[in-house]
Amino acid sequence: MLRRLYADQPDSFAFTPANLAWAEAQMTKYPEGRQASAVIPLLWRAQEQEGWLSRPAMEEVARMLDMAYIRVLEVATFYFMFQLQPVGQVAHFQVCGTTSCMIMGAEDLVEVCKKKIATKPHEISADGKFSWEEVECLGACANAPMAQVGKDYYEDLDPAKFEQIIDDLAKGDVPTPGPQNGRYAAEPLSGLTTLQDFDSGKTQYNASAQLATDLSDTVKRIDGTEVPLTTPWQGKPDAPKKAAKPTAKAKVSDATSKAKPKPSEQRDAPAAQQKKPRTMKAPRKSGADDLKLIKGVGPKMEGLLHSLGFFHFDQVAKWSAEEVAWVDENLEGFRGRVSRDNWVDQAKILAEGGETEFASRVKKGSVY
Ligand code: FES
Repeated sequence: MLRRLYADQPDSFAFTPANLAWAEAQMTKYPEGRQASAVIPLLWRAQEQEGWLSRPAMEEVARMLDMAYIRVLEVATFYFMFQLQPVGQVAHFQVCGTTSCMIMGAEDLVEVCKKKIATKPHEISADGKFSWEEVECLGACANAPMAQVGKDYYEDLDPAKFEQIIDDLAKGDVPTPGPQNGRYAAEPLSGLTTLQDFDSGKTQYNASAQLATDLSDTVKRIDGTEVPLTTPWQGKPDAPKKAAKPTAKAKVSDATSKAKPKPSEQRDAPAAQQKKPRTMKAPRKSGADDLKLIKGVGPKMEGLLHSLGFFHFDQVAKWSAEEVAWVDENLEGFRGRVSRDNWVDQAKILAEGGETEFASRVKKGSVY
């Protein structure tokens, strides 16, 4: 399928503050220099926010991840989960047309789309609410035929049930995802023949349908204020379901200030106790130290540190807990890195002319 950028592009794209905090938290999953690994989650979040992926959205993701724009475009055009043109405001249906679904009636579902939404795929319905397309196997063949909307699968469909789903969504309801014929999951239609004690501990719906229902995280646009904002790797526990929604700012400072305590006591300053360290306008005459010898500092981070006025190991080595907290908060796109990788202790060794294990690997060229 030919997937090209839409002809009519918006001028700009920006994540909402909460989505930006979420995206930056995702980036902390990966080691310095490997932020490109977050490309799919960030693109997906941009799409959840806007409904589709515009060129400015891809460019913003490329900027955040320090990737060439063409690399992001390659990802976005390869996966049909990414919509490259505007979609219906309420839902974009991806109807599976591959073998199992076709045998079980996918062509009838496509006819429903043509009748109720628009005659052609990717065309937006007259009321602006819906759009559709036919896609390849979505891996729910045992529940054929099926269609995906956002994160959710509507399975075991027939034309009447599919029409009802579209009507319900048009009214503002969100039908429960999952099998639509009474099945719990993908068990035989005639009932279980093995594992018949499966009932114990069963939730009302199967796991993914139950989660979608609990989170109410289905067809709506995602602005980042949903709970939970799961960044457990930053020491922030998953928020309980349906908890009060924290503000984006609170989420960011929570994630930073509640980071797991590590050996250096310099990491324990609450976000509120921050102090800007002394900075320099330029490196000393002898030239800047190679800050990339500090584990967690790559070329982009080094540039960021220079722009903040940090050029030397002894500057970093002197940061107090409050100063670490300030730098951690001001590393746009890399918040929390100073604490996470214990830069201060590394810098102390390097400032005294010593060598850390990481620095010796860098010098040997075994860190890329
Ligand atoms: S054939 Fe439709 S989900 Fe696999």
